[in-house]
Amino acid sequence: MFPGPLGASLAGRALERGLWSLDVRDIRAVATDRHRTVDDTPSGGGLGMVLKADVLAAAIDAAAPADDLRPRLLMSPRGAPLDQARVRALAAGPGALVVCGRFEGVDQRVIDGRGLEEVSIGDYVLSGGELAAMVVLDAAVRLLPGVMGKEASGEDESFSHGLLEYPHYTRPAVWEGRAVPDVLVSGDHARIARWRREQAEALTQARRPDLWRKLKGED
Ligand code: ADE
Repeated sequence: MFPGPLGASLAGRALERGLWSLDVRDIRAVATDRHRTVDDTPSGGGLGMVLKADVLAAAIDAAAPADDLRPRLLMSPRGAPLDQARVRALAAGPGALVVCGRFEGVDQRVIDGRGLEEVSIGDYVLSGGELAAMVVLDAAVRLLPGVMGKEASGEDESFSHGLLEYPHYTRPAVWEGRAVPDVLVSGDHARIARWRREQAEALTQARRPDLWRKLKGED
């Protein structure tokens, strides 16, 4: 699956330029039996299969020695919700080992024994962790130095100040009878900044009361 969409566009060009790199491991490659088994039935019964602790630990140990300081993420709908602060921390750090689960789950002992930090990209269930890992990587890679032009520094966008972003417009001045707001063509930069701030606050209050409360320090 990798690099998949990370091989295209902004992340793909950055990958080609060596601004980041990807070392993809197939967990099955470290399975030792004839059938390269990576999963087994759940202890205690139930549906689905569980990713085996011994196999996954061998894959992790092969990819990251014990003194490897990179955070170890396990993509999982049970995890802490990913947010821009976590993305910024990942982008500023030494990289990450990202484990993509498949099957019904991962043996809890390898999560505990290898210090895996569970991360979720939202309250829905994907069929595997790969797409979630790509989301984490895409969000982090675009913040790496040199990936975005300086015109789009990531400073002014949604979540960077805990607010959703204000609405954007470009030419033509009128489209299907809808005009670009006058303030944006006024040339008054202080007024424009104030308008954008107000719009961002109104949008955040209306759409994301959770973010608004957090910003106001009420949570
Ligand atoms: N794997 C399956 N669903 C997921 C989710 N919502 N977030 C992260 N990893 C997942």
